[in-house]
Amino acid sequence: MDARAFRQACGRFATGVTVITAETEDGRLHGMTANAFSSLSLDPPLILVAVDKNATTHAVLHRAERFVVNILTTAQRHAAQFFAQKEKTDWTHIALGRTPSGQRCLEGNLATLDCQLYPPPLEGGDHTIFVGKVEWVELGEGDPLLFYSGQLIEPRLHHHLRAPSGPEGARRD
Ligand SMILES: Cc1cc2nc3c(=O)[nH]c(=O)nc-3n(C[C@H](O)[C@H](O)[C@H](O)COP(=O)(O)O)c2cc1C
Repeated sequence: MDARAFRQACGRFATGVTVITAETEDGRLHGMTANAFSSLSLDPPLILVAVDKNATTHAVLHRAERFVVNILTTAQRHAAQFFAQKEKTDWTHIALGRTPSGQRCLEGNLATLDCQLYPPPLEGGDHTIFVGKVEWVELGEGDPLLFYSGQLIEPRLHHHLRAPSGPEGARRD
């Protein structure tokens, strides 16, 4: 099987874009752009993210107890680009908030999921699958930032599809 064709085929699956944030052992915030995110279970509420074994985030999550999934809007394109860099030096334009459990997270998210790591990490080739038990969510507003065919895409959704904030928006009736 051709490795390039495999990557291209995977890229035809349009996804949203997240930034996974977690604190290092010495209390610094670390983050990484990730589209290999999925919901996993409703009861218990579980999500998963696949992290490259060479990513710094891999070592951070191995030692962390919690992490946050920040689901990005089109207005956070710069955050997607910033957290995809290996060296994340200039944090000037990254607005941070906190979840009720005290975890730092990005501000202006389409949705925020505060998770407890749900061990053990699962083997996934050159990636590791980290499962999180979701303990708190917050819904924001905006259009979802998408990743398709290697590109960040900013769709303009018709207003009836736009995500309203708060639990009302989570209802599907
Ligand atoms: C749109 C997008 C999605 C990405 N998704 C993932 C992913 O799901 N898992 C992963 O390990 N890396 C993913 N990456 C690459 C990481 O963001 C990148 O390697 C980053 O520099 C890792 O940072 P770290 O080494 O500080 O953890 C993605 C990059 C982009 C631009």
